[in-house]
Amino acid sequence: MSIRLSDGRELPIEMHKIRIVQKVRLAPVRDRLRAIEAAGYNTFLLRTRDIFMDMLTDSGTNAMSDNQLAAMMVSDDAYAGSESFYKLEDAVKDIFGLQYLLPVHQGRAAEHLLAKVFVKPGNVVPMNYHFTTTKAHFELAGGTVLELYTPEALKTTSSCPFKGNMDLGRLEAAIREHGVEKIPFVRMEATTNLIGGQPFSMANLREVKKLIAPMGIPLVIDASLISENAYFIHEREEGYQNKSITEIIREMMAEADICYLSGRKSCSVRGGFIATNNKAHFDAISPWLPVYEGFYTYGGMSSKEIEAMAVGVREMTDLEVAGSSADMIKYFAGRLIEKNVPVVTPPGGLAAHLDAMKFIPHVPQLQYPAGALASALYLVSGIRGMERGTVSMDRDKDGNDVPSDIELLRLAIPRRVFTMSHVEYAVDRVEWLLAHANLIGGLKFYEEPPVLRFFAGKMEALGGWGAKLAEAFEKDFGPSC
Ligand SMILES: Cc1ncc(COP(=O)(O)O)c(C=O)c1O
Repeated sequence: MSIRLSDGRELPIEMHKIRIVQKVRLAPVRDRLRAIEAAGYNTFLLRTRDIFMDMLTDSGTNAMSDNQLAAMMVSDDAYAGSESFYKLEDAVKDIFGLQYLLPVHQGRAAEHLLAKVFVKPGNVVPMNYHFTTTKAHFELAGGTVLELYTPEALKTTSSCPFKGNMDLGRLEAAIREHGVEKIPFVRMEATTNLIGGQPFSMANLREVKKLIAPMGIPLVIDASLISENAYFIHEREEGYQNKSITEIIREMMAEADICYLSGRKSCSVRGGFIATNNKAHFDAISPWLPVYEGFYTYGGMSSKEIEAMAVGVREMTDLEVAGSSADMIKYFAGRLIEKNVPVVTPPGGLAAHLDAMKFIPHVPQLQYPAGALASALYLVSGIRGMERGTVSMDRDKDGNDVPSDIELLRLAIPRRVFTMSHVEYAVDRVEWLLAHANLIGGLKFYEEPPVLRFFAGKMEALGGWGAKLAEAFEKDFGPSC
């Protein structure tokens, strides 16, 4: 929720109070230089003790509510038939309107099961945009991902409210080209993580369904950030201002044949699920659940997390909860724009995203500008963001780099975790870095896993730019900052 101050400014206001806190440390810049060098200029490989503001992701890092914590205390640890499962099942029926539920340990486990059951070698899977783990699973099953976004999607500066929409003309052409039998389903991601947490509209979702349903192609919704997508529909789409988040989610789900999600995001827990009203789809997937995840009533999740998820599914429909990150991201992005920082617009659902190719245009794409910018920001602030660019793309079959469509540094705003002074600190350090952008250079891999290399790959700073940047920072702020 945002509140108007007497001078006319809009401020995102916290509709909660903080009663449990976790201590953080701002390591001095020389320690940060040592830490990022040891981490191979990969922010995933930093340790929490060296991080001041962890803006890597909102995945599993949202602050939980008192009701979620309380629910964890009464969980039922039965191997089979756990009452905790039935509470989650009820919540999914009430909020999503979906009858059949398969709990999994996190989002990619759902993707694994969907790939196993539906994606065959030679298949193509149309989607509004890929997510890293989605692409990995569908490709491991022998499929190819087709990204059918609109021309607005990759414009980092835009006023288009629904950059996550699918291009219907491209979808029609893809079905004509590949044939219905090669398409196991169409996937819509709410909101499109890798291009700035951008939502799709209800109208677009309906159009997609209208096109594919008569051909018998199922629609799968990745609902990991469903409450944020619903919040944007509420804020931006004509006719939805008076509808509740639950009504909007149910309307979205009425179009879906299968819904899956990572519970680490909108639901503020660690887990995931697949849900559907289609008994045949449920029957096709469920035999594999105990093979890969766990028994039907826990599916790899702890019963504590299942209890908390049952509460989280309901709480995410509170307008103030659904909008809590989105409103702070809007404020954060607005403050960065005031400082001439190139930021993805309109602001999206999980983070503010800096456009690395505009921030450091002198760094060529094959020297990984988004990765370099992530490391540079950590060096000058202790803020850990995440590279979402070419490092996040694995090499092709011939070992060549696959340049990403856009190079973004993602600065996530997990729900209810940061305060306004944190946001102002981040704005200040990004502004300082922009003024010293010429000191940032490129990166080169020296250790590189073959799949999802962004998690564990290690790089070196070409020409040793990290040390020079740390020196410039120390000159302005002293050794202890
Ligand atoms: C849109 C989307 N789908 C799937 C996943 C994978 O979920 P998990 O990290 O829980 O495996 C994520 C994770 O961030 C995501 O953002």
